[in-house]
Amino acid sequence: MKILVTGGAGYIGSHTVLSLLNNDFDVIVYDNLSNANIESIRRVENLTGKKVSFIKGDIQDKATLTKVFSEFVIDAVIHFAALKAVGESSTLPLKYYQNNVHGTLNLLEVMMAFRVYDFIFSSSATVYGGENVVPYEETMPLGEASSPYGASKVMIERALKDLAQANSEFRAVCLRYFNPIGAHESGDIGEDPKGIPNNLLPYVAQVAVGKRESLQVFGNDYSTQDGTCERDYLHVMDLAEGHVSAVNWLKKNSSFTGVEAFNLGTGRAISVLEIINAFEQACQQKIPYHFAPRRYGDLPAFWANAEKANKQLGWKATRNISQMMADTWRWQSNNPQGYPN
Ligand code: NAD
Ligand code: WQD
Repeated sequence: MKILVTGGAGYIGSHTVLSLLNNDFDVIVYDNLSNANIESIRRVENLTGKKVSFIKGDIQDKATLTKVFSEFVIDAVIHFAALKAVGESSTLPLKYYQNNVHGTLNLLEVMMAFRVYDFIFSSSATVYGGENVVPYEETMPLGEASSPYGASKVMIERALKDLAQANSEFRAVCLRYFNPIGAHESGDIGEDPKGIPNNLLPYVAQVAVGKRESLQVFGNDYSTQDGTCERDYLHVMDLAEGHVSAVNWLKKNSSFTGVEAFNLGTGRAISVLEIINAFEQACQQKIPYHFAPRRYGDLPAFWANAEKANKQLGWKATRNISQMMADTWRWQSNNPQGYPN
């Protein structure tokens, strides 16, 4: 089975490509490398001993997408390609809507033209907004997204529903990720943010490796156990395996049409201070940090009810927090500057 993976050179994409290859899928990666390094694909090939067809292209470029769909017989698409910096999306909303929403519509149009109907979409816990009570369940209505980035995910989920209503052959799975962290246990591939990391774990790891001085902990006056925010962190390899489960689920359920959403999380939340503590255990050193004001838009605590993915996809996150920290540290200490340029 041949799968087109957009954004496959990025953080979650590269780990998923590795899992797909290890499960004997053929993979074509389509990525414009705006937030990735081709070295991730080379390393995935080394780790798996298998080849990936790589095309440097933009999802906004219909001509190149059309060429790819004419050249390869594609059975399904896993769509990671997106811009993901939440803060930046508020200052550059049109860039985010162009890239994420317009780019996805382009891709779907080309898929329809080539009668490719199976689609797995990288959605996010952010679609639940701030209105729903935790833990989040798939039956809850989508919330009011707090950023253009979040809104782009809500819009795409809606577009997928409308497309499925209009076209009975179209089948989509929306995987709503909670907070992916960690790296492949080899330490050869991992998260390599450009510039100052926006997310907690890459920032902590860069402090540990001496690239940054001190971590700011955004807020210590939340109504949580220790006053810092709580999140449902899951290992990126568990998340990668979730995509393999979703592809297999579509394959097995040939009569399914429509759109189905699944939360991918552990079902447990842990705090920023607990993360720092666990990372200190993994790297055997103190992480300098200081408390800073709350970050705009942060919710105090959220986590997944991941029962549906367990029951229907047969998927469950199995790696614990110390493994997430150990693998992050292995990647960061082996690659202090990220992938070589
Ligand atoms: P990433 O930035 O590492 O990966 C995204 C990839 O898409 C990059 O390789 C980038 O070069 C590529 N890309 C971006 N725009 C493109 C375009 N127009 N055409 C072709 N390629 C393009 O990010 P990630 O963390 O791996 O996230 C993957 C997906 O998962 C994204 O859709 C993101 O919104 C979603 N997601 C991520 C998180 C998270 O915390 N990392 C959480 C929930 C959802
Ligand atoms: C986690 C916690 C911060 C950095 C974001 C997106 C979400 C999803 C995942 C894509 C929070 C705190 C962070 C730092 C800190 N992405 N923190 N100091 O905000 O839960 O989710 O990424 O869909 O949509 O919003 O993740 O890693 O940014 O933050 O104290 O330097 O760490 O306040 O409580 P978040 P995060």
